[in-house]
Amino acid sequence: MSNPAHQTADITQAVLGRLAEEPDPRFKQIITTVVKHAHAAIRELDLKPDEWMAAIQFLTKVGQTCDEKRQEFILLSDTLGISMLVVQLDQARRSQAALADKTATVKPTEATVQGPFYWEGAPVLPLGSDIGKGMPGEAAWYSGNVTDTHGKPIANCCLDVWSGDGEGVYDMQMGADAGMRLRARFHTDSEGRYHFWSIKPTYYPVPADGPVGDMLRAMGRHPNRPGHIHMMVYRDGYVPLTTHLFAEDSPYLDSDAVFGVRDSLVVHYERHAAGKAPDGRVMDKPFHTAQYHFVLAPA
Ligand SMILES: [Fe+2]
Repeated sequence: MSNPAHQTADITQAVLGRLAEEPDPRFKQIITTVVKHAHAAIRELDLKPDEWMAAIQFLTKVGQTCDEKRQEFILLSDTLGISMLVVQLDQARRSQAALADKTATVKPTEATVQGPFYWEGAPVLPLGSDIGKGMPGEAAWYSGNVTDTHGKPIANCCLDVWSGDGEGVYDMQMGADAGMRLRARFHTDSEGRYHFWSIKPTYYPVPADGPVGDMLRAMGRHPNRPGHIHMMVYRDGYVPLTTHLFAEDSPYLDSDAVFGVRDSLVVHYERHAAGKAPDGRVMDKPFHTAQYHFVLAPA
């Protein structure tokens, strides 16, 4: 007897049945779940052939928009909240012991998305260096410390820092000859402290001139991210942390296009009139100070 519902159910079983000999159990688990959920979604939607073709054309365009500098698939993952979900699950898994430790006095700093502008091999600079010199934007003095979850300082801990300029533009977007700007690696001193100069970051749009931009417009969404500075904080023996600090007064904190904001990462930038800065230098323009205490979980 012909029963359409039964036959479509059989297609799912038929696909899964051909995985029976798959030797890698994790691969088998992933494919099984993806096939089950994809088939269920298509049934739930009663998806039409032209709708499926539109989806294929969209994904084709996403692929065609990628090149050496642009990764439209990461942007798709980011704007659908998938990147942030994977980050959260990963941090929860890797920090399990620290989160369950009843003697811990502080929680590990929350992680957030890495984003597309990380550039490996930023220069190693001494504490106190200025990585925002000559770039658009108001100067900001960043300081704080890194400890473990018991408050013990972590000396010689690397802070790999990067951000856009005061207009939200990253060095990678400044043209072929710009080289590295607004990025560096700093190492905490013997008491786990760090300090350096950069700029106060401003909000910026994710690239919206490709298929993901079309998708955002179709969803009625803006493409903006609130102002933030990126940090990768790591030292052997600890779970490496990839996170941002967000400027407390930035627009879009409540509607980040990539869902990366966590309340614990929102930082007050104190604005000061021109004059003496914390490191003794005399500033001829207004500047900001921002502080943050990073906490790493033991590996
Ligand atoms: Fe960013």
